[in-house]
Amino acid sequence: MSKLSVRDLTLSGKRVLLRVDFNVPTEDRNGVTHITDDTRIRESLPTLELLRSAGAKVILMAHFGRPKGTVNLKYTLRPVAEHLAKLISAPVGFSPEVVGAVPAELISKMANGDVLLLENVRFHAEEEANDSTFAKALASLGDIFVNDAFGAAHRAHASTAGIAQHLPQAAMGLLMERELQYLHGELSKPASPFLVILGGSKVSDKIGVIKALMEKANTFLIGGAMAYTFYRALGIPTGKSRVEADKIALAQEILELAKRKGVQFLLPVDNLETQEISATAQPRPTGLLSAGKGISEDWEAVDIGPETIQRYRTEIATAKTILWNGPLGIFELPPFASGTRAIAEAVASSHAVTIIGGGDSVTAVKQFGLGDKMSFCSTGGGASLELLEGKVLPGVAALSER
Ligand code: 3PG
Repeated sequence: MSKLSVRDLTLSGKRVLLRVDFNVPTEDRNGVTHITDDTRIRESLPTLELLRSAGAKVILMAHFGRPKGTVNLKYTLRPVAEHLAKLISAPVGFSPEVVGAVPAELISKMANGDVLLLENVRFHAEEEANDSTFAKALASLGDIFVNDAFGAAHRAHASTAGIAQHLPQAAMGLLMERELQYLHGELSKPASPFLVILGGSKVSDKIGVIKALMEKANTFLIGGAMAYTFYRALGIPTGKSRVEADKIALAQEILELAKRKGVQFLLPVDNLETQEISATAQPRPTGLLSAGKGISEDWEAVDIGPETIQRYRTEIATAKTILWNGPLGIFELPPFASGTRAIAEAVASSHAVTIIGGGDSVTAVKQFGLGDKMSFCSTGGGASLELLEGKVLPGVAALSER
């Protein structure tokens, strides 16, 4: 990899500005914020510990939610500082101001190995505007920039990109390095057969990824509501299922492209359908679908069916590289989770390099307790999609060359 890594740096006594993605899901319980999934915080610990043990003073920068450039304490990072302190069994200082005299004073008192978290950088509109004066003010708090916020690397913001121009060294952290190694390195020359499993609700969200991966993949397995837009392109009735009516022609185009390129593009041959979206619903199998026979009128497809699971398992078993992005049904509700679960289990027990491309598919895999069985689970949602589409991520482009 051509970018400078945190492993290349001399760190003792240095003030390191470490950008992390602490944009974690939370819930409010009686006025107290609880972190419901701290994966992103935990995944930043290897870089944090490397910096601390090398004697750096670690100044963490992060965003949380979308406060739209104003101070809104609903989005304060203070609870995250408290949570992090528990995870590292060491104090984590907190600066209620992002730039200026308050953090400068706190930083001047830090000893080597200490950790300080700055308040939500998005409390300043200049962050998302990638304002250079703001980036400079952030940069003045440290000596070196390290970016471990892969999940925010698709944003050209002051703390992810602009800051790099104002410091002599801008390096990737260990998490950033692993994300790039799997989502970019492994997939640039994937061992074949290369299988791509794509789900989620919209074809429009995945079109860039489909087109980019069509150049490399041998087989696509499609699930989730995006499949129903393809059904419409094939004349298969979709009942009341979610369909992107304005993307049917696009779906047709993708099917033709796959045919031209000799890529297998498999759609579910059967589904589960329901008349009620609820945790107590009892969906029924549709049976095999064809141009004449589809989802029943007044019914909605919510998961892949048993025959599809069987066929998809066969493909998964022989793949050497598997990339999965997007759930295959409404897995959040138990009656509609069986397809996503069966596919997660098949991927987990395959002998392939298995890469789970962020967002809901990672949530699903973890919900089934299979996260540790995968080669890699990305912490990025939008960032992983953009990388898979072949885009250059501003947070990566800004880093120093090795
Ligand atoms: C994410 O959660 O995907 C990242 O933290 C980026 O957040 P954003 O979509 O609000 O920029």
